[in-house]
Amino acid sequence: MSAPASANASSPVTYDVAERIATITVARPEKLNALDGATITALGDAIDRARASAEVGGIILTGAGRAFVAGADISQFPTLGEEGARALAHQGQTVFRRFETSPKPVVAAVNGFALGGGCELAMACHIRIAADVAKFGQPELKLGLIPGYGGTQRLPRLVGKGRALQLILTGETIDAQEALRIGLVNAVVPGAELIATARKWLGQMLANGPIALALAIETIDRGLDMPLEAAIALEADNFGRCAGTEDMREGARAFLARRAPNFTGR
Ligand code: COA
Repeated sequence: MSAPASANASSPVTYDVAERIATITVARPEKLNALDGATITALGDAIDRARASAEVGGIILTGAGRAFVAGADISQFPTLGEEGARALAHQGQTVFRRFETSPKPVVAAVNGFALGGGCELAMACHIRIAADVAKFGQPELKLGLIPGYGGTQRLPRLVGKGRALQLILTGETIDAQEALRIGLVNAVVPGAELIATARKWLGQMLANGPIALALAIETIDRGLDMPLEAAIALEADNFGRCAGTEDMREGARAFLARRAPNFTGR
C-alpha cells in the first residue's frame, strides 16, 4: 500500500511496505525531486518510520520520474544567507545520517539524476544500485557553493581523495558506468530491472539475522572513523555481542545440520 510518509497528504515522499521491505520514494518529479525543506523533513519522517517498524527489515530509497534527486532546491539559495545555509546543511546532514546509521540495510536504487544533494543522499545509503541511465555529480561549485550534505567527506571515503577532488572541483557529471568503475556505485542494471535487483539484494541480506546485520553496519560505520586499534577492538566487542545471541547458535546449528537457518532476532 502506498501512503505519504508523513501525516500531510501532499507529502513529497511516499512510503510503501511489501515483504519486509519499505520503499521510500522522493516524489516531486516536476522539480526532478529537488530537496526543499518539506522534502528533507518528509525523508526524515520516512526513515524514522522504517527504522521503528517491526514489519520492516530493509529499505529501498528511490525517486519518482526521471531523477533520483537533482540536488538541493536551488530556488531557496538566493535568500539563504550564511546562518540559513549552515542550518540547511545541518538539517540535511542530520536526516542523511539517519539513513547511514539505520540498523536495517538501506539500498539506494538510483533511477536517474543523482546530482549534488542527490549524490550525497545516495552515498548516505549502505549500497547503491544504478539504472544504466543514471547520472552522478557534485555540481555545487558551479553555483558558488561546496557540497553541504556530507559530500566532501563521503565521496573521498568511497572513491578516494583524488577522484573526489576531481568530481567536486570540476563539477562534472559522470554516467553510471563511470560511477561503477570508480566505486561510487555497487552495480549498474537496466532501468526496468532496478527495483527488482534492489529487492533481490535486500532479500539476500534479510536472510541473515537482524542483529548481525545491525552490528555489521555499526562496526563498519563507526570503525572507519577510528584508529585501527580502536576499530578492531569495537569489532571484537560486537563479535562477542553476536555470540551472545540465539541467532548465532541457530546459525551454527543450521550449518551443521545442513539446513537453512531460521533467525529470529534474539
Ligand atoms: N533545484 C530546483 N529546481 C530544480 C533542480 C534543483 N536542484 N533541478 C531541477 N529543477 C527543476 C527545474 O528548474 C525545472 O523546473 P521548471 O520546469 O519549473 O522550470 C524542472 O526541475 C526540470 O528541470 P530541467 O532543468 O528543465 O530539466 P533538464 O532535463 O533540462 O535538466 C538537469 C536536468 C538535472 C541537468 C538540470 O535540471 C540541473 O542541472 N539541475 C540542477 C542540478 C544541480 O546543480 N544540483 C545541485 C544543487 S546544489
